[in-house]
Amino acid sequence: MDAAHGGSTDFGHHHSLESERMTPDPRQHSPSAERNRVPILAQLQRVLPPTGIALEIASGTGQHAAHFAAGLPGWLWQPTDAEPLALASIDAWCDGLANVLPAVHLDVLAAPSVSLPAPVDAVFCANMLHIAPWSTCLALMQLAAHGLSPEGRLVLYGPYLEEEVPTAPGNLAFDADLRERNPAWGLRRRADVLAQAHAVGLRLRERVAMPANNLLLVLERTVPSSDA
Ligand SMILES: C[S@@+](CC[C@H](N)C(=O)[O-])C[C@H]1O[C@@H](n2cnc3c(N)ncnc32)[C@H](O)[C@@H]1O
Repeated sequence: MDAAHGGSTDFGHHHSLESERMTPDPRQHSPSAERNRVPILAQLQRVLPPTGIALEIASGTGQHAAHFAAGLPGWLWQPTDAEPLALASIDAWCDGLANVLPAVHLDVLAAPSVSLPAPVDAVFCANMLHIAPWSTCLALMQLAAHGLSPEGRLVLYGPYLEEEVPTAPGNLAFDADLRERNPAWGLRRRADVLAQAHAVGLRLRERVAMPANNLLLVLERTVPSSDA
């Protein structure tokens, strides 16, 4: 077939363009991650120390990892996800960032069979708890309690239901939609999430109201000492 183009002087040029078009871009796009990465990074820069190692759970597309690692140059970022197809997207978004480790397959419901950096100074998890079974909450807390350094922080981001704050109509509709898609999914009550945290020795340090009716929850060890 190529021989049919033999008369074309710029054949090679066309051929390389065609090859590029044929190579699928592994980067997946999340419009919400594109929007919320800016306010989340501003909070991470405020609540985290200048240097450390971060373990990200449920990195998704990798847009967060790339943005946060670039904005936190003193941090080494370990992205992970339970979905094998996500790993190529994460690595592609983080290509060229020296402070991001290759994405690792990690399902919080399965004991990690890979070696992860530990202890870590931060565990970050955005938007997983409502789109995964409730059992992932305790699993995430156990992972954080096991992996965090004594002064480490668990940072959660997403929509939550709160007793004292009326739920925004958009979040109620999102909750109904999630439950229809999968009865095991749905927005979690902040109080229930924190109860699971308390069970493993973590407590709420700070609650930050974020745009679009989301919350950033910063948790720390109840007893911040290595022999806790
Ligand atoms: C809505 S996406 C959020 C992605 C990203 N954190 C963000 O905020 O854009 C939910 C992610 O949770 C991951 N996930 C679901 N169940 C999980 C589990 N058991 N362990 C780890 N990740 C899980 C999915 O693969 C998916 O990437």
